[in-house]
Order: sequence, then structure tokens, then C-alpha cells
Amino acid sequence: MKKVFIETYGCQMNEYDTEIVKTILQKQGYGFTDVPDDAQVIFLNTCSVRENAHKKVHNRLAALKHLKRKNNDLVMGVLGCMAQNLRKELLDEKVGVDIVAGPDAYKKLPEMLAKVEGTGEKDFYLTLSEFETYSDVFPTREGGVNAWLAVMRGCDNFCTFCVVPYTRGRERSRDPLNIVEEVKKLADKGFKQITLLGQNVNSYQYEKYDFADLIEMSAKVDGIERIRFTSPHPKDFPEKLLYLMAENEKVCKQIHLPLQAGNSRVLDMMNRTYTKEEFLKLAGHIRTIVLDIALSTDIIVGFPTETEEEFQDTLDVMKQVKFDSAFTFKYSERKQTIASRKFLDDVPEEEKASRITRTIELQRKHSLEQNQKHLGETFRVLVEGKSKKHDQQMGRNDGNKVVVFPNIGAEVGSFVDVKINTVSTNTLIGNTE
Ligand code: SAH
Ligand code: SF4
Ligand code: F3S
Repeated sequence: MKKVFIETYGCQMNEYDTEIVKTILQKQGYGFTDVPDDAQVIFLNTCSVRENAHKKVHNRLAALKHLKRKNNDLVMGVLGCMAQNLRKELLDEKVGVDIVAGPDAYKKLPEMLAKVEGTGEKDFYLTLSEFETYSDVFPTREGGVNAWLAVMRGCDNFCTFCVVPYTRGRERSRDPLNIVEEVKKLADKGFKQITLLGQNVNSYQYEKYDFADLIEMSAKVDGIERIRFTSPHPKDFPEKLLYLMAENEKVCKQIHLPLQAGNSRVLDMMNRTYTKEEFLKLAGHIRTIVLDIALSTDIIVGFPTETEEEFQDTLDVMKQVKFDSAFTFKYSERKQTIASRKFLDDVPEEEKASRITRTIELQRKHSLEQNQKHLGETFRVLVEGKSKKHDQQMGRNDGNKVVVFPNIGAEVGSFVDVKINTVSTNTLIGNTE
């Protein structure tokens, strides 16, 4: 049996796609290995979102080159967003790439592998499809606590900094009945939590079903205890979904709401289609409807022409909203994007570095403050496993925060109540009740 080694980079959508790829290859009789040296096929499922994502993969390919020298029959492939973004350039690289396949091309992989294995010819397949949703490929997953589930593919928002619309093509939603069937299979496998994925889940629409309908249908599946989703877009967060979150116990009270920047002029240049004031209003509104909501965000510093004063607006929004956590990035110019064509990447690296440091520091302060509010509270925790310290276990609360408690031998996938007595920026610590 030929064995495949797959390594995944980038977002949860890529994690999900790796499971799709595995399922497609498994049907063709391929097996899998965690050790590159044992593999006859090596695939890297890649990300293009920032330059360091590309760098990582280039370095990895260079590091794997010696295996190719040892075994000329080894097939090396680049999948995912970087494949779509760089195309043929990857085949021409000196690192011995044989296959390049974009995110909508995975059903072609068996054919591509057969060609490369049979003739030794390199192959690439990139056409972005407007229809491919892999709805007929239910990923075979090992049991676990959380399962990712893509409910839509692509993105039509064209934020000017972002490469995703070019690497993943037009937005399309999957049939909700088909999604619910997949949720049932996950419940049968013992998964307790599902996370519904889309680049902008607010615009999920399939015939008369919107995203809130889909969540409600998924929540009816017995065995699934928690439903999360990522990411909604601040421009059109559905009111109906907020009420569903407030009322339905299975829908976790946690929203990842990407701010990107706090200044309205910068937001306009980013094509985010909301202003600073609108974002603040939305965050306030969410908090009045879904009490105890955990809010997280994404922030980009140093977008073209962003001044120090404008950057202060980002810090100001952070101070007003007090996010529970944030992912922060330095602007990284991406090929093909509107920003790369229209704007000069003119904020100096030192300035980006200074802004990101200040953003991270402020966020750490807020994360700690938010966590301190939880002192003395008791949370229902879904157990994920052992903590770093072997005498402790860990899991997550409804708000997706990591909760650590003494090792009581709680089963992975079970629920325990933990009363919090100590907190840090990233963790809540307590005792079981
Ligand atoms: N669809 C998701 C985002 C996917 S990309 C959403 O809209 O929430 C994840 C994050 O990467 C983005 O939210 C953004 O903060 C960051 N990002 C995207 N392109 C970037 C770029 N060119 N430079 C720096 N950060 C970027
Ligand atoms: Fe990129 Fe914007 Fe689409 Fe998110 S919504 S994937 S940031 S274009
Ligand atoms: Fe995800 Fe990276 Fe592609 S963030 S959608 S894998 S560019």
C-alpha cells in the first residue's frame, strides 16, 4: 500500500480540506503515515494569507528535498491556497515539486497521482470552480472532541488586503440537509462539538435557508452538545443569529468578530464596508443581547498609508470593546490583491513592529482583565485531555477559554463543572465541583 504524508498550514478550512483529501485518497487505496521518510507521496496543504506562510512552505520543501534525492519515485505535491496563488512557479522551483493542486481540484488528485507515478511527468490543476463544495465527500474522521465542518467555500468580499477570494474563488453554500447529515455522522463518531466554517458565514444562503436556520437544524442533532462558528463579518451580523445564541444552549456564546482596523478611513481603504462607529455599535448591541458573550478579533497593523494617529483608533476600539482575545498581524502585501495593485506598502517595518507590539501588550492587559472577571465563577467545561502539567487536565468553557483543573481522570469528551480560583492571560484555573 502506498503511503501518503500530509502536512497542513493555514486556517481551519485547510484542516477540513486535508480531511477531504485523505478521504478521496483512501478510496483509491492509499494509506497514511506521520513520518515523511516512510511516505511515497508527500503533500503540503498550504496557506497564502501572509508572506511568512509562504516562507514556511518554501523552507519545508527545501528541507524535504533530501528525501527526493534518496528516492526518485517519491511524489511531492503542493496543495491549497499557495498552489492556487503561485501556480506553475512551484513546478519550476528547484525543490522537486511534481503536483500543484488548488483547493477546488482535489477530486483530480487520484488522476494526477496516477499520471505522475506512471509517466514521471509533472502535473498541475488549478481551475477555480463556482460549484465544487465536496458535498459528496464526507470526510472520514477519527473520533475527537471538536470537528471542523465547512458549510461554504470561497469569498466574495474582496477586502483589499486579502488573497482568499483569489485562492478560493467565488462564494458558494452547501445544502443544509447534506450538512446536517454530516453532523449526524460526527455525532455517531462521538464528537461533542462542531465548528461551522466559512470565510463569511453571515452570507450563508441555500435556497430559503440562512445561517441561523442552519445552526438551528444542526443543534437538533442528538449527541452534539456545542456549536461554534467562524467567521462572521461585522458589516452584516444577522440579528436572528444573536437571538438564537441567547436562547439556544447548544450555541456557544462566543463570537470571532474581525475588526482589522479601528480607523474609518483605513477601513474604507480595506473595503470592509463598516466604520469605527458602526463596529462599536455592533459590539455593544451584541453584548446587550447575548450576555456574557466572549468576543475575539483579528487586527492588521500598518495597512498602506495608516498613520500613527489612525492606528490609535485601533487601540481606542480595543479599549472600548475589551476583546477576550485577538490575533494581530503586520500588513503583508499579497500578489493579486487590490491593495497590492493600488496602494504602496509604505508603512516602514519598524513602525509595523512598534504598532504590533503595542497592540499585543494592550490585548494581554484586556485578556487578563476579562479573565479576572471570571474569578469565583463556575463553568461547564468540555474535557479535551491532559494539561501540560501531568497532574492536571484541561478543557474549554462555552466562551472557548482554556480551563485547567486537577487530574480527576475525567473522560475526554465529558463535561465537568469547574470553579475558577486563578487566572492568567490565556488560562482559567480552578477546581471541579
Ligand atoms: N474570512 C476571515 C479571514 C480569513 S484570513 C474573516 O474575514 O474573518 C484571517 C486573518 O488574516 C484576517 O482576518 C486578517 O486579519 C489577516 N490577514 C488577511 N490578509 C492579510 C494580509 N495581507 N496581511 C496581514 N494580515 C492579513
Ligand atoms: Fe478575506 Fe475579507 Fe473574505 Fe475574510 S471576508 S476571507 S478577510 S476577503
Ligand atoms: Fe486559509 Fe490561508 Fe487559504 S488562511 S483560506 S489557508 S490563504
